[in-house]
Parts: sequence; C-alpha cells; structure tokens
Amino acid sequence: MQAREALKKAVTTLSGAGIAIPEREASAILKDGLGINSLAVFKDDPTLTPHQEEKLEEILKRRVSREPLQYILGFVWFYGIKIEVGPGALIPRPETELVVEEVVKGVFPKTEAVSILDLCTGSGAIAIALSLNLPGADVTGTDISGSALVWAGKNMAANFDSASPHKIRFLKGDLFAPVGDSRFDIITANPPYIKEDVIETLPPEICCWEPRMALSGGAEGLDVVKRIISGAPEHLRPDGRLIMEIAGGTDIAALDRMSVDAGLRPEKVIKDYSGWDRVYIART
Ligand SMILES: C[S@@+](CC[C@H](N)C(=O)[O-])C[C@H]1O[C@@H](n2cnc3c(N)ncnc32)[C@H](O)[C@@H]1O
Repeated sequence: MQAREALKKAVTTLSGAGIAIPEREASAILKDGLGINSLAVFKDDPTLTPHQEEKLEEILKRRVSREPLQYILGFVWFYGIKIEVGPGALIPRPETELVVEEVVKGVFPKTEAVSILDLCTGSGAIAIALSLNLPGADVTGTDISGSALVWAGKNMAANFDSASPHKIRFLKGDLFAPVGDSRFDIITANPPYIKEDVIETLPPEICCWEPRMALSGGAEGLDVVKRIISGAPEHLRPDGRLIMEIAGGTDIAALDRMSVDAGLRPEKVIKDYSGWDRVYIART
C-alpha cells in the first residue's frame, strides 16, 4: 500500500467511526504512528512496509473503538514538551498550559529558588513543564493514583537524568498528605472538577477511557477543589499563590467566599481560549 492510499484509508475509517476531524488524526497516525510525515506522503508517496501496514490496521482498530489517539500514539505535546500518556493518566489539555504560563511568566518575584507543590499531578505535565522552565525551582508533584504516577515517573526519566540540576520529585497520597506540614511559594493544581452526572454525557474517549478519579469532582464538581482551597493556607508561605484550574462556568463568587473563609485572598481569574473562566488564583 502507498502512503497516500493509507492516508485515504485512515480518513475514511475514522470518519466512518464518527471521529470529529479525521484528516488531522489520519495525518498524525501516519506521522507519529508510522513515521511517515506529510511532506513525504505528498512528495514521495512511499510504499508502506509490511510492519507499517500491520501497525496502521492496529491503530485504526483501536481508534475505531474510541480509545483516545494520544493513548494509542503514547504521547501528547504539552507546553512544548513531549509527555507520555496511556490508560491510568489523564491526557493533559491545552488549557492547562495556562496554569504553567501564569507561574513561568513570573506570578512570584522569587523565581530563583521558588518552591512549588503540584497537587493532582497525574502524568506530571505541569510539574515537569515548570521544572524545565524554572531551573531554580524545587518542584514536588503529588497524586493519589499509583497508575498516574507511573506515567509521571516515565516522564521524569525522559526529561531529566541523574546529572540534571533540576529538583523534582513525585509522591503518592491524598492531596497534601505526602508533604506533611511543608510550606511552598506556589501551589498549582488541575484537580478533578467534572460534575458526576455530566461524566456519562462526555465523548467516549473521555468517559470510557480516562480515569474516573481524574475526572469526577463529585455531585457539584467541587469536592477536591474545596479541599485544596481549605488546605492551601497551611501549606503556603507568606505571599504564596494557589494557581488552580477550574471548570468553565464555576461560580467564582462562591470560590472567593471559600478562599476568604480559608484565609486566602482571591487575586484573579484567567480565561481560556474559549472565554471560560479557567484558572483561579488566590494568595496568602
Ligand atoms: C484532572 S487530572 C490532572 C492531571 C494533570 N495535572 C494534568 O493536568 O494533566 C486530576 C488528577 O487528580 C488526581 N486525584 C484525584 N483525587 C485526588 C486526591 N484526593 N489526592 C490527590 N490526587 C488526586 C487524579 O488521580 C488525577 O491524576
């Protein structure tokens, strides 16, 4: 089979399975799954090896069952970094880059030796992006899921070697429990925040494949959010920041009341690319 024919086959198969943008996924499958980039497809139209043909069949079979493409290809780009993902870890989303951006652009003046706690770290995407972009930072990521932390460990190994000056570690446990009474300059978090009854209405790639524990924030979507806000003051230094991703449509006034009750001062809310309130920031 020639590459162009393979591309056409992928588009037809994916579109028949109801995949939203089949052309984009088909070209990602050829490039990242089979190692044939778009230029080669149109310029040289190479013949697929038997191994590539087999691989194409296998990828399309998995994708037609609505397994996320990122799990099949095994990675996603996040803040310019290749993050490995698979079942057991949430796939990092582009809007989560806003959390990283807020820290990197200097929400905190002491960027040199800033200490950061990334709660609900999952694949470690936020923690790793922060550590790579703030080499002086001391970054700790925590998550309750051992399966997610396996991915965080792989990503740490892929991005840092033992000679690396970066300080980064991942710990398993419930929110703040693994760090005891340690305090940090910045707490970042992308907690599970989807309302329980909304999960079943989401596309199969999300509701059937991504870990429930990474999605569900309980009946109102706020179970973990509330616990993060109430625990943050005891784990932040003076002038510290909580920088947390929230669900679009979250009642900001209610979050502000929770923050004030906990002893934090609401600072600002950042909108995502679609105009939803997406990142909530409060300070000590
Ligand atoms: C929305 S995912 C975010 C993953 C990653 N930070 C990202 O942005 O891609 C939420 C993560 O919170 C973790 N989690 C859920 N409840 C938790 C808890 N009580 N303590 C610690 N982690 C928790 C899940 O295992 C999951 O990895």
